[in-house]
Amino acid sequence: MEFLSMLFLFFVSLFILVLIRPAIRKFVAFGRGKLPLPPGTLGWPYIGETFQLYSQNPNVFFASKVKKFGSIFKTHILGCPCVMIASPEAAKLVLVTKAHLFKPTFPASKERMLGKQAIFFHQGDYHSKLRKLVLRAFTPEAIKHIVSDIESVAVESLESWEGRMINSFQEMKTYTFNVALLSILGKDEIHYREDLKRCYYILEKGYNSMPINLPGTLFHKSMKARKELAQILAKIISVRREMKHNYNDLLGSFMGDKEGLTDEQIADNVIGVIFAARDTTASVLTWILKYLGENPSVLQAVTEEQEAILKTKQDYEALTWADTKKMPMTTKVIQETLRVASILSFTFREAVEDVEFEGYLIPKGWKVMPLFRNIHHSPDNFPDPEKFNPSRFEANPKPNTFMPFGNGTHSCPGNELAKLEMLVLIHHLTTKYRWSMMGPQNGIQYGPFALPQNGLPIRLFRKY
Ligand code: HEM
Repeated sequence: MEFLSMLFLFFVSLFILVLIRPAIRKFVAFGRGKLPLPPGTLGWPYIGETFQLYSQNPNVFFASKVKKFGSIFKTHILGCPCVMIASPEAAKLVLVTKAHLFKPTFPASKERMLGKQAIFFHQGDYHSKLRKLVLRAFTPEAIKHIVSDIESVAVESLESWEGRMINSFQEMKTYTFNVALLSILGKDEIHYREDLKRCYYILEKGYNSMPINLPGTLFHKSMKARKELAQILAKIISVRREMKHNYNDLLGSFMGDKEGLTDEQIADNVIGVIFAARDTTASVLTWILKYLGENPSVLQAVTEEQEAILKTKQDYEALTWADTKKMPMTTKVIQETLRVASILSFTFREAVEDVEFEGYLIPKGWKVMPLFRNIHHSPDNFPDPEKFNPSRFEANPKPNTFMPFGNGTHSCPGNELAKLEMLVLIHHLTTKYRWSMMGPQNGIQYGPFALPQNGLPIRLFRKY
């Protein structure tokens, strides 16, 4: 009996020790006058835990780490020591409250492709100035005038898919590329669309290539295409300067700035916005096709909502901004897709100095990664998180738990445009078409955005 109670006591003490281990570690380190690093493992020299992260669904890696070490843990990815952040409050600290201590960071090759002066890579005054100019072009007030133009692009895209087997992601990329150009160049885009598309498509092939600038390499071809893109933009800018006309689009916003952006700064930021706008929105639209296809009752509810709007229209009467505000069900579908698919699983920042963070030390130069996907898939924030259930958005999510467009000074300035172009496409898709998904449908690929396997091949049919 005595032995049994000793054994019981032993296990209880062991359990308590395991529970308070992080606190003890912090206490000991504090006693030595130094904060501890967050718990976690750094893996092999140089390669760290890169394979463990990239050889499987990243959520499995994150979830097992969170279970073992809690919501702040260290690891080593792509040659860099990192701290991963899986709690909404800590993510807010990195992205908002202490944003000045964590600068955005990207691989050098991406900086060269997009252009060093693009908004993503900056902090401080230059970033604030650019952000003001970008936001000005994407406010509801600015984009409400292009609803009917976006609608024409959506109708044209859907008609071109009719009766064919298509790769949804590839086709959605064409749609979102054309909408991005429309918002950047306004009606001018049609004259330059094909040339810009040709160059951009070569450029993007080099995004994840080795940065070796020798003839024949992908990187070299990309850099050449980038130069050509900048030349086309310089031509558009010079024509506009001669016209002395005021334009409401993004290029107009960049050119209208009193302090002035150089042609090079404009080119870097136009290319940057296309990069930020296209694959992101196309991935979400691809997931929407999949989730609507798999959830007939949700599709039915969305279709009824869209048909009710259609009934208020005369033949060929265009959609308006006001119409898009009468789509609560469709809006919830978009929100739930953004949550479940979490196409941007995480983002990167870098500590600009040694930072004391929730009782731990984040050394200068370490990467810090707020894990959006993990926060969106935590049952504490969203009950039954793997289930696609748009009605959960009838109530507002808890603060800082829903961040599909990021948070703070670098949060997405294009979010209103992204939502608008999705609503417009869904309107025409559900009122005029049916689709069936072809091939296996359970796989997810990450490249880098989460995407249904093989870009979701579908066949699209006209309803009537
Ligand atoms: C559904 C589609 C989209 C999603 C999910 C998305 C998501 C995001 C996220 C999470 C960030 C912040 C990244 C970070 O903090 O590191 C971001 C930044 C950004 N996004 Fe989007 N985005 C989308 C569409 C767009 C569109 C349509 C545009 C432009 C028209 C755009 C332009 C930008 C820009 C310029 C930034 C950088 C802002 C800065 O650094 O200050 N995005 N986006």
